[in-house]
Amino acid sequence: MSDRIHTLSGYFHEYQKSVADPENFWAKIADSFHWKKRWDKTLDWNFEGPDVKWFLNGKLNITENILERHLYTMGDKPAIIWEPNEPGDPNRILTYMELYEEVCRFSNVLVEKGVEKGDKVIIYMPMVPEAAIAMLACARVGAVHSVVFAGFSSNALADRIEDCKAKVVLTSDGNFRGNKKIPVKSVVDEALENTDLVKTMIVYQRTGQEVTMKEGRDFWWHEVIEGKSKSHEAVEMDSEDELFILYTSGSTGKPKGVVHTCGGYMIYSKYTFENVFQYTPGDVYWCTADVGWITGHSYIVYGPLLTGATTIMFEGVPTYPNPGRFWEIIDKYKVNQFYTAPTAIRALQVHGTDPIAPYKLDSLKVLGSVGEPINEEAWHWYHTHIGKTRCPIVDTWWQTETGGIMVSPLAGITPNKPAFATLPLPGVQLAIMDPEGKELKGNSVEGNLCIKFPWPGMIRTTYGDHERCKQTYFSAYKGMYFTGDGVKRDHDGYYRILGRVDDVINVSGHRMGTAEVENAINEHPLVVESAVVGYPHKVKGQGIYAYVICDMSNRTEENLTNEIKASVTNIIGPIAKPDKIQIVPGLPKTRSGKIMRRILRKVAEGAMDNLGDTSTLLDPDVVDKIIAGRKE
Ligand code: WT7
Repeated sequence: MSDRIHTLSGYFHEYQKSVADPENFWAKIADSFHWKKRWDKTLDWNFEGPDVKWFLNGKLNITENILERHLYTMGDKPAIIWEPNEPGDPNRILTYMELYEEVCRFSNVLVEKGVEKGDKVIIYMPMVPEAAIAMLACARVGAVHSVVFAGFSSNALADRIEDCKAKVVLTSDGNFRGNKKIPVKSVVDEALENTDLVKTMIVYQRTGQEVTMKEGRDFWWHEVIEGKSKSHEAVEMDSEDELFILYTSGSTGKPKGVVHTCGGYMIYSKYTFENVFQYTPGDVYWCTADVGWITGHSYIVYGPLLTGATTIMFEGVPTYPNPGRFWEIIDKYKVNQFYTAPTAIRALQVHGTDPIAPYKLDSLKVLGSVGEPINEEAWHWYHTHIGKTRCPIVDTWWQTETGGIMVSPLAGITPNKPAFATLPLPGVQLAIMDPEGKELKGNSVEGNLCIKFPWPGMIRTTYGDHERCKQTYFSAYKGMYFTGDGVKRDHDGYYRILGRVDDVINVSGHRMGTAEVENAINEHPLVVESAVVGYPHKVKGQGIYAYVICDMSNRTEENLTNEIKASVTNIIGPIAKPDKIQIVPGLPKTRSGKIMRRILRKVAEGAMDNLGDTSTLLDPDVVDKIIAGRKE
């Protein structure tokens, strides 16, 4: 049942095997899962198409590997522990048996509403167990879920609904977060104003706030599950049938739908979960991500539940009602593995160590980090004050596209080095490339991070636009998957991720395309042109700095920047709101009209004495004007 590695030599041994004979390596792991029919061929691939297929003609349902598989051995063990936003409110614990029954009930609802294999279902929900139940019910009936983070605006939601042609939306009335009660259903209502694709909306009642229900389209969750059977026969899926679509930002304007498939994702999310976190039966594991992101998919829902783990789902925020909330929850449930983002660590670090003092944190065995490079200061704070220097830290590098963790220590096995993601997991063949397309071999090298060989959890396509998948990931370096990240391999052969080398910025661990933010800014009627760059931000990792050329009309600068911020919030969501907006008379452009972002980045980060060559600019004076008006 378990393919867990136990020692460093075991890791090296498995790694060697995985490179020497990847097919046998993964086939052996896949054999410990439940298949309705075993696959005929383990792998078929080329990165030119790209065309990657794992476990060809294998038949399965991922939920049987989560539910049926664990029912008889651990039916009464907690699968999901839900901790509500308000500390005093009752929590919820769903055992594997209860999860099975709830998923079956909701599967029967989906069937009743006419959902069929291959249909797309949008999940726009807060962090409640029903979000996980919804995902699993989709997977059980063969529908393809696309979870949209409930902080995205109605516009962003509408784009995603249109792109994947969703037939059903699963949502809630509202969402509690900290001291706020946030409307959710009304956002969906707005998103549906200009489309008739969605025939059914099912609304989970969480806050009790008033909503309008459209007759014939909208139904209450608690009403539709009433009387539904607690069993449901899982639909047979092919390994390469779509499991889910998750939208993510890239360097071009429109977010793309990353497609993951049933077989490979199942094997990869479980294998990586078990090995990286060294999860052992009985442990309580907590990942603080939101199910709206890939981390929530792979390491709150699929990976842990495929392992038979107890996974915590937390509805609230780290600082409510006070910055000790995370630590309180760790003690309350005796959490063994804790997985969070550097941005959360830095936000809590600001409050000092007093909020930690009341808590023992002695159940902790492993700490994890994900989403952005972790700076050494945050690493040491986490290690000293939370892990009490006793817990290894797994700094896990991966992406929405990779489906699961790619480069990371195995907890307690791989020696740590602060701010290093350390070594690739078995099955992951990395290459560091120079700008000319030459692979940099050996140690002490720095370049662009690529992957040479397929792994089961990898992206198969970008939904509805395979060419875009090819262009984005498989064209920069022939025969390789390009990650978009810069990386250094040090003298020990350890990997340190340096951050994005494309026009993607990482704000609080959330990926944002600069073009996407620019498009939103440009929607404002008085904006003529804009350029967005990232700059180092103490808590968020990167902040958003926007240079905007405007027709000021009668506005004050303050009015206008507030309007622009409001419009970005409205078009994408609060996470994309620029931290700084500078109204500029012009942008630094080359004679061919290309914006020199390098200069804008330098100014934003305050490195004005290091602008490099500006002589090729059409109007070099504009740089001085930009420097003069720089926002601190
Ligand atoms: C980008 C992917 C993977 C889940 C969360 C983000 C950055 C992610 C690390 C890390 C340095 C990291 C990369 C990557 N990133 N983890 N441990 N160290 N950078 O998923 O939204 O798809 O973003 O996040 O730049 O390309 P995502």
